[in-house]
Amino acid sequence: MKMKIGIVGFGFMGHCDADTFDTFDDIELTAVCDTNPDQLKDAPEGVKQYSNVDDMLKDADIDVVMVSTPNPSHPEMVKKAAKAGKHVICEKPAAMSVKEFDEMVEACKEAGVLFTVHQQRRWDTDYRVMKEVYDKHMVGDPYIIKSQLYGFNGYMHDWHVYPEMGGGMLYDWGVHLIDQILNMVDSKIVSLYADIRNVINEKVDDYFKIIMKFASGVTAEIELGTYYLTPMRGWFIGGNTGSAMLNGFTNEGKIVRTEHLLENVPGKITMTAVGPTRSFGPAPEGLLIDEPLPEVNVSQRDYFVQFLKAFNGEEEVFVKPEQVRRVLRVMDAVRESGKTGKAIEFEK
Ligand SMILES: NC(=O)c1ccc[n+]([C@@H]2O[C@H](COP(=O)([O-])OP(=O)(O)OC[C@H]3O[C@@H](n4cnc5c(N)ncnc54)[C@H](O)[C@@H]3O)[C@@H](O)[C@H]2O)c1
Repeated sequence: MKMKIGIVGFGFMGHCDADTFDTFDDIELTAVCDTNPDQLKDAPEGVKQYSNVDDMLKDADIDVVMVSTPNPSHPEMVKKAAKAGKHVICEKPAAMSVKEFDEMVEACKEAGVLFTVHQQRRWDTDYRVMKEVYDKHMVGDPYIIKSQLYGFNGYMHDWHVYPEMGGGMLYDWGVHLIDQILNMVDSKIVSLYADIRNVINEKVDDYFKIIMKFASGVTAEIELGTYYLTPMRGWFIGGNTGSAMLNGFTNEGKIVRTEHLLENVPGKITMTAVGPTRSFGPAPEGLLIDEPLPEVNVSQRDYFVQFLKAFNGEEEVFVKPEQVRRVLRVMDAVRESGKTGKAIEFEK
């Protein structure tokens, strides 16, 4: 069955999603809605245009509403769409508090409609490559996962600079980066610690480091900075039989293993520019072996391939409300730790 979709909030993300829908035979964009008439000027031909969401929700030609308005309006939009009997895909962050989110879930349950959140970065190539390394124990038993994202000029656009609009990087990329880790490590979080800063943005966070210690023994460290003059997307997974590193949004990187472990290295041969060291000098010739990272074939478009299965009643939604709720709870704890400077016990 063809899925007919209406987008409310036809700005940056609304346009991106419209382009993605255009690549599907079984998704039809039937309507777009935006309060700013300028945003509707380049709406695709034949697609109905609305300036008011209440009018769009009366349109019987819409099965699913994609909520792509700025963050604070998500609860109102989702609840209205559910009440109108439409399935809902909401942009991330779904809500700015767990309480708001619970109300959205409840409204969708009551109306008997599907509800999910656009966490499409679960299909990012870099993430899936490292998830495969993790899932398939390619570096043995992992003890550390690092996810890093650095940008170069501190720039944040439009409403993202206002706290009351849900601005800042925690609400922006933070949601994705936490969601990725929680969907990689299948374990309770024992404790977490966060350092959150405003390096050059006055009112909203533009740097954070989050350290999550899982019951399984893995520690995950997420670090994002918009004012890091060495921009990169990076991953590292350290395990007891190897290390995996990735740099970029593809599978560029390597797995490194050692030929033999824990051999007593004689002190003098590990010379560095500043003198000898027994543990941290260059590796002896032939000790380290490089292997390629696995290849994966995914794209963010797969989010909607998966959603179609739920729409057609074949599967549950992939991005489940309870998973989104856990991310929001982590974000609350992260903020608390950022404020107090203390580690927080979590899911004990
Ligand atoms: N999933 C992702 O990777 C991703 C990426 C970027 C943005 N987002 C999310 O998408 C949402 C929108 O972000 P954006 O960058 O596209 O913002 P944007 O400002 O470019 O677009 C938002 C649009 O909503 C419109 N709007 C505001 N209030 C409205 C209302 N009451 N009714 C109808 N239209 C209204 C605005 O006029 C604007 O055109 C945010 O929640 C953001 O976090 C998600």
